[in-house]
Amino acid sequence: PPGEMPTRLRVILANPRGFCAGVERAIEIVERTIEIYGPPVYVRHEIVHNKHVVEALRSKGAVFVEELDEVPDGAMTIFSAHGVPQAVVKEAQGRGLPVIDATCPLVSKVHREGQNQARKGREVVMIGHAGHPEVEGTRGQIPGGVHLVSRVEDVDSLRVRDPDLVAYVTQTTLSVDDTRDVINALKARFPKIQGPDVKDICYATQNRQTAVRELAKRVDLLLVVGARNSSNSNRLAEIGTTMGVPSYLIDDASMVQDGWFQGVSVVGVTAGASAPERLVRDLVARIDAVAPATAETLQGVEEHMQFKLPRTLSDAMRERG
Ligand code: F3S
Repeated sequence: PPGEMPTRLRVILANPRGFCAGVERAIEIVERTIEIYGPPVYVRHEIVHNKHVVEALRSKGAVFVEELDEVPDGAMTIFSAHGVPQAVVKEAQGRGLPVIDATCPLVSKVHREGQNQARKGREVVMIGHAGHPEVEGTRGQIPGGVHLVSRVEDVDSLRVRDPDLVAYVTQTTLSVDDTRDVINALKARFPKIQGPDVKDICYATQNRQTAVRELAKRVDLLLVVGARNSSNSNRLAEIGTTMGVPSYLIDDASMVQDGWFQGVSVVGVTAGASAPERLVRDLVARIDAVAPATAETLQGVEEHMQFKLPRTLSDAMRERG
């Protein structure tokens, strides 16, 4: 009966889950930069939204700051995977700071799309969440800025110069379903609007959402490993909740509460794109301590995406041999 603690548990792991190619690249950029240039290396903003990743890099010599004025003159500086506004790029250039840019190439692609639309005279609408650093970066990369919308209701209140000259871009880590609704509302209001369909949402976000939807059909409880400020992780937990499964977004196994497992026999586990796999293993061990657990991995799409390191870094690595 519901309410009783289980005597055994079945754990199903989503596939794919965890690190995406942009996060792997960003972490490698910080590690290589420290190796080549020596510590300290300054990183503007959390390199990716995960405190375990940040702590590990801090112990190797990374110093995390929010703004460039906290970076000493001449110090090696890295921009986070979320991207930065043009003003930050200019500020770094003005100060002659040596910069290595860890902006995910899929975020840079959105910057270029927005810039091209603005160059063609279109006002750009960005679908995204206010305050997220990726949104701040993208809005600050597009000349003239953007109109930010996050929900269908926001579309009604948009005021534009010319309804025939509008384009949109999106944050890379949105809900595929919500975004489709907002895009449809935009198309209804601005029939000539130009945009990328839902393709600004990155492959990793889409794959993790598809995988968690499959997982949620099979489980009584869903645990998502990821940070509060991680957009894509929040979207994974939302999908579970929308599908009627009690879903919790947790930083790590230490946040697990035994009470969650009352009446549960199958537990689903996934992880956001910035959450290390080690945290998933620790979580499975924590579940096993609630009740002896067997773990299996769901079938899912294979990912082969890999991004090259920035040129300055790969050149420096080659010189060192
Ligand atoms: Fe890039 Fe998508 Fe990861 S935009 S950083 S590949 S979640």
